[in-house]
Amino acid sequence: MPAEIHDSSQLANIAAQRIASVMVETIAREGRVSVALAGGTTPRAAYEALAKIPGIDWGRVDVYFGDERAVPPTDPDSNYQMAQAALFSRVALSPSNIHRMHGEQADHDAAARAYEAILPERISIVILGVGEDGHTASLFPGSPALNERTRRVLPVIGPKPPPQRLSVTPPVLESAGQCIVLATGAGKADAVARALRGPLDIMSTPSCLARGGLWLLDHAAAARLDG
Ligand code: 6PG
Repeated sequence: MPAEIHDSSQLANIAAQRIASVMVETIAREGRVSVALAGGTTPRAAYEALAKIPGIDWGRVDVYFGDERAVPPTDPDSNYQMAQAALFSRVALSPSNIHRMHGEQADHDAAARAYEAILPERISIVILGVGEDGHTASLFPGSPALNERTRRVLPVIGPKPPPQRLSVTPPVLESAGQCIVLATGAGKADAVARALRGPLDIMSTPSCLARGGLWLLDHAAAARLDG
């Protein structure tokens, strides 16, 4: 799917519109929609814009996460905490339909297995970011988790602080109904180009896993895409 390139000032609103459209279409077709959220900083504005979009039946939405840091849900580093502030606190989502990863649990493998047990076989929409090193979710270059074909959630240790995390594995991204990738800023240009135009090499550029998804970029992040 081709990337869309937009002015930075418009990207959050456009991303929210694209996500909302797929949500509404999926609910109309299947009765419910599952959405796995990305963490980090890029998606926050898109989540805030999504909260303002009318016409989404939030009672038919189940929210999951693509990754989480090994911190409490109230920690400023928590992806759940960011989504709670930017989205959950602003829409009529039932808390029982918000499924966070329990990164704070001491036994990370048990936390990963518990999450895997509630994760749908196929997530309708997986929202992802991209790191400057080409990672996505918490799948970092060279990670053994990139070779995982059975487990769908794994404890990982990555170079981006905080290092201990839980992450979905490649099978989850590959089985998603639709991946939607958000990237802004010149720092992401090389990773975006490798993910979309380079050799399909997930070990060096894990965000290649989302190559078939919808990529929403600003001009700076798209700067190394030829044509
Ligand atoms: C995380 C994210 C991670 C993020 C990228 C981009 O928990 O850190 O899931 O994959 O999407 O690192 O982060 P920024 O949006 O902050 O640049």
